[in-house]
Amino acid sequence: MVQVKVEKAKIDQKQTPLLVIGVFEGEQDFPHSKELDSAVYSSIREMLENKEFRGTFGSSIVVYTLGKGPMKKIMLLGLGKREKFTNESARICAGKATRKARELEIKEFSMLQFSNLDEGLVEAMTEGIALALYSFDKYKEAKVPATKIEEVTILINSDSLRFQSVAEKANLIVEAVNFARDIGNLPPNDCPPAHLASIAVSLAQDYGMNVRVMDRYELENMGMGGIVAVGKGSNNPPKLIVLEYTGASDLQQKPYLLVGKAVTFDTGGISIKPSEKMDEMKFDKCGGCTVLAVIRAVASMKLAVNVVGIVPSVENMPSATSYRPGDIIRMYNGKSVEVLNTDAEGRMILADALAYGIVTHSPKAVIDLATLTGAAVIALGANVAAVVGSNKQLIDRLRKLSDKTGEKMWELPLYDEYHEQIKSTYADIKNIGGRPGGAITAAAFLSNFVNDVPWVHIDIAGTAWMQEGTHEKSYNHKGASGFGVRTLVKLLMEDEKQLPT
Ligand code: BES
Ligand code: ZN
Ligand code: ZN
Repeated sequence: MVQVKVEKAKIDQKQTPLLVIGVFEGEQDFPHSKELDSAVYSSIREMLENKEFRGTFGSSIVVYTLGKGPMKKIMLLGLGKREKFTNESARICAGKATRKARELEIKEFSMLQFSNLDEGLVEAMTEGIALALYSFDKYKEAKVPATKIEEVTILINSDSLRFQSVAEKANLIVEAVNFARDIGNLPPNDCPPAHLASIAVSLAQDYGMNVRVMDRYELENMGMGGIVAVGKGSNNPPKLIVLEYTGASDLQQKPYLLVGKAVTFDTGGISIKPSEKMDEMKFDKCGGCTVLAVIRAVASMKLAVNVVGIVPSVENMPSATSYRPGDIIRMYNGKSVEVLNTDAEGRMILADALAYGIVTHSPKAVIDLATLTGAAVIALGANVAAVVGSNKQLIDRLRKLSDKTGEKMWELPLYDEYHEQIKSTYADIKNIGGRPGGAITAAAFLSNFVNDVPWVHIDIAGTAWMQEGTHEKSYNHKGASGFGVRTLVKLLMEDEKQLPT
């Protein structure tokens, strides 16, 4: 992957094929302008004064320096209105410039800091650059583009090591996001549950972590009725992956528990889905991919926290051995569930994983991620994830972080009334609650499998991949998005800071 570096700006000396300079809308000057060759500066200045370049958000223009100065070309990049500029704008603008730079077929370039220097800016610019350069070309003979950008330097007005380390961490986080995208994008024929498990095992080896993969027989013996039931219909047997990262010096410190839905392909089972867009159900494993990626990031940064990741993985297929509507399943925590729709399989596997994770690891908090309901997309669209949970404080922390990371999240309520909708005639609960409030009744179902531990559920059905209704940004890309990785890693980094080491 490209490495983004930071360096103290000396632009009269910086040898580079391209220097990107951000300009705010309606402004005629920019930082370090006086260090440019005077002829180059005058030409740019004239362009700005004549409003040939206005600095509107995301616009750009390339100027040749004709040998006057150490940079071959300059790209002016519109940052939009200064008052509206946020870290997310920096991420998007850095991504736009990077995509343009890639068209110029160069191997490296430099970018001047966009606005006042702080850690958030350096982080956002690094992320925008590195995320924008992602591509999934594993299955293509002709790799596009032919020339890959290998190095990008952000030029800042400080030589403080603090910013170097911010950029280094941001590189590691993006590597993890791209790891999540790479697995998420795998076609279902190349990514059965056993393959996901093998990825977790190599991760554990690479970073010296504990990993345990439970197979179908163990799951049966342990009473994980939900995972076994959903997995029954496929020739690719189910797996339960448990990956543990222990970074806190106090080994007794309670871990965060992250649980991610990994349905490697969701046909709906006997309650089969319509064929239109069914291919997109290869992304039904994205919650699990995010969990693996968060642990990868945390391990690569050696954060002083403890995290347990649990990924229940199945393929939901229709066959002679599938579970059926009408079946009553005994779950890991002893509750019985009446199956009324085999397409509501995500909650069946998450339920066992949550209950098992909580009794086994006594976590201080639990967060689950899942492409759980089409209803979440109906409620909030394809750019915002739905958050439901039992702990206001944890929800608010995630919400605040999500404003910064640009991974938008919005809370839906979990009033008692929603529990009425999943009461069953024949069992303790049923696995569907009807169309009204479908994203919330799914969460109400999950709440039956968590005790009083702080718990937050994030429904990423709309945001896990680029789909109809996804707002195109420079740094997202067709396919899996790795949604949630950056926000959860930030949460754990925040936690690390609060703890005495
Ligand atoms: N994986 C789907 C949810 C989904 C649908 C995610 C579309 C992204 C886009 C999930 O397993 C599912 O099929 N849910 C059903 C639940 C229903 C049967 C209660 C749904 O949302 O229709
Ligand atoms: Zn389904
Ligand atoms: Zn599903």
